[in-house]
Amino acid sequence: MSSRTSDVLVIGGGIIGLVTAWRAAQRGFATAVLDPAPGGGAAQVAAGMLAAVTELHYGEETLLALNLESARRYPGFAAELTELTGHDLGYRRCGTLAVALDADDRAGLRELHALQQRSGLASEWLSGRECRRLEPMLAPGVRGGLRVDGDHQIDPRRLAAALVTACERAGVEFHHTWAERLDVVRDRAAGVTTADGTALRAERVVLAAGSLSGRLAGVPDELLPPVRPVKGQVLRLTVPRRYAPFLSRTVRAVVRGSHVYLVPRENGELVVGATSEELGWDTTVTAGGVYELLRDAHELVPGITELPLTETRAGLRPGSPDNAPLLGPSGLDGLLLATGHYRNGVLLTPVTGDVLAHALLTGELPEEARPFTPQRFHAAVPARLEQHA
Ligand code: GLY
Repeated sequence: MSSRTSDVLVIGGGIIGLVTAWRAAQRGFATAVLDPAPGGGAAQVAAGMLAAVTELHYGEETLLALNLESARRYPGFAAELTELTGHDLGYRRCGTLAVALDADDRAGLRELHALQQRSGLASEWLSGRECRRLEPMLAPGVRGGLRVDGDHQIDPRRLAAALVTACERAGVEFHHTWAERLDVVRDRAAGVTTADGTALRAERVVLAAGSLSGRLAGVPDELLPPVRPVKGQVLRLTVPRRYAPFLSRTVRAVVRGSHVYLVPRENGELVVGATSEELGWDTTVTAGGVYELLRDAHELVPGITELPLTETRAGLRPGSPDNAPLLGPSGLDGLLLATGHYRNGVLLTPVTGDVLAHALLTGELPEEARPFTPQRFHAAVPARLEQHA
């Protein structure tokens, strides 16, 4: 079959692949994206919280630095994208309120507050009454909460659509098909063979296929990114105009050990998420998943039972062993990775585009991305073997 050549071929047209392709094309690389449905993927399900502070976890301080850096770039990134494409991204600097429903939750949230303070992050402890003053729809039993004005939101579906337009305007070529395998010639990634047998050649290939990144044929076994699918079920409700504003910011909590969040959009959409299930490639929406989300969301905001339920959907987060992304040179010449963003794909979109553009231009990761080299997962050569090598 015929063979076409580009400077950069991106496998995967989700938001991470698209931002990589857009930034590469802006820097003068002849760029192509391979995806049967560009703009699809996990962004079609995600709520779009930009929650570097409220999603802080113990042991993830390195990831926090990248998350904060990306959050810092968001205003400029969103403005640039909107100006270029005319798309409104639903970027809303509305803040987030994380609340506690009982004494245990409150103790957990106090711990999170202390960790945030040790990390130099801005958050404010509120009593239950102060929480309800901010958000009158909250349940009367709310025992306290953390106000984080710096955690914003964006509509990931609009973001994906804008990135498709930005890529088109920058001259990115789209191949509406899937990669059957990576082609490696003389120990270097040379392109892909598509599902219909076409050979697409490229100077550099970027694997940005979300949770599918871990199973592309042709990638040497030891270099395959250790990425797995983590299922999230998400609901969409609609707030009728007469109830608006139902919530004025993102509200979240941990209920019976599970995260639940409600993300209100300006257009009346209310996103409720999300389950977290290690079930492989399953994307079934289950009665149990919907029940648990509604039950937990109802404990936080009882009035949601009045709202029309307009959509139920499940997506797959690309989870990595340390919950952080894999960015840059893969260990195989000519192959770069932009995957494993797990719970932070939307938040990390701006910085990922910049980091991959830098890596494509220089062959190296910029300072802020060095901890996220895929090579951190490569097996260390035992000292004894090294001596004999
Ligand atoms: N960041 C939200 C989620 O992954 O559910």
